Amino acid sequence: MALHPSLRGKNAQASPIRRLSPYADAAKARGMRVFHLNIGQPDIPTPPRMLEAYRHFDDKVLAYGASEGSAAYRTALANYYNSLTQPSAIPAILPSQVLVTVGGSEALQFAIAATCDIGEEILVAEPYYPNYKGFAQILGVETRAITTSSSNGFALSADQVRAAIGPKTRALLISSPGNPTGAVMDAANLRAIGEVCRDAGVFLVSDEVYRDFVYDGSGRAPSVLWQPGLESCAIQIDSVSKRYSACGARVGCLVTRNPEIYAAALKFAQTRLSPPVVDQFAALAALETPQSETDAHIADYKRRRDALVAGLCAIPGVRAATPAGAFYLMVELPVPDAEKFCIWLLETFQLAGETVMFAPADGFYATPGLGKNQVRAAYVLEVPKLQRACEVLAAGLAAYPDRLN
Ligand SMILES: Cc1ncc(COP(=O)(O)O)c(C=O)c1O
Repeated sequence: MALHPSLRGKNAQASPIRRLSPYADAAKARGMRVFHLNIGQPDIPTPPRMLEAYRHFDDKVLAYGASEGSAAYRTALANYYNSLTQPSAIPAILPSQVLVTVGGSEALQFAIAATCDIGEEILVAEPYYPNYKGFAQILGVETRAITTSSSNGFALSADQVRAAIGPKTRALLISSPGNPTGAVMDAANLRAIGEVCRDAGVFLVSDEVYRDFVYDGSGRAPSVLWQPGLESCAIQIDSVSKRYSACGARVGCLVTRNPEIYAAALKFAQTRLSPPVVDQFAALAALETPQSETDAHIADYKRRRDALVAGLCAIPGVRAATPAGAFYLMVELPVPDAEKFCIWLLETFQLAGETVMFAPADGFYATPGLGKNQVRAAYVLEVPKLQRACEVLAAGLAAYPDRLN
């Protein structure tokens, strides 16, 4: 008998952020320098106290930890979340409402698995973080998208959510500050969307891994945990990856005041035994990072954002709006098929031995045809590298045989 992978395995979508990597590897093997604007891998150093903690971990046996995460780390996380709000009528977060996970990625999978059964549906705002669809697909859950537009900063309204909720909808997944749009939701809008979800019996899964990355001076993005009346429907996703530039640590968490959702997620967590023990030890130390260090990095990202937007907008036919947060933006290119152009940049083009890599944006949309002429760019490189990447892009577009205008 012939052996076949599952349909779910066959139908899984390759990550639009990573699927062109073989072309980049081949370019590098030919001696090219590739500016990686395709992936959100920050180059900012991981906080020294976090790296120190790794060096000082001295348990004699590297044992399993608790499935829900170490008590010390969950307590410290609860304190951190409680420090994000003024004294309020909403009860404080307890350590027993924090579940430590293998990155924000596992927290997202647990959130979808705890809210949706096979054949049910999550709602997302497109363009969205492609792994939302990937996680749902692994779980046999459908993804339905509400289209947002660059013309109003990719805003999502409560009315759009109300209109989109259908009989199979069990959860709405939002990311604010958003990947890939950089859009930041204000508290009033977040609350209004949450109330629509709550009234319709839909969970609101709020992916807040970019919480600190807000550039308009208003501080952190508002958290779903502190919106009154949403206690039972809100599930917050978090991660150390971006906040501490520690993507390799693989530590995140799910936070909810809904005891049934927590209990379900904990059972999923028990099946994978425990989150990484050493990384939690380091993540605990990272929580002590002074705000001044974070502020300096945010100022750095703001300079990068401004340099990239200025560089892109100076290229004829390229359109990009200034995002309010995260470290991504959507870019419209004067080409009919952005993926073909991205491959051409890696395979065929070079400017003095250099080229640039973007993530083609069609994989960030569920609606066929959308994003065809767009890429997502991440500004996770130093300003001179971003400026050079724009020069390379400008020269590439000028030389591209299929350029539109
Ligand atoms: C919006 C969003 N959520 C979640 C994640 C997952 O992060 P991690 O699993 O590294 O915590 C990412 C990573 O890029 C992201 O952009």
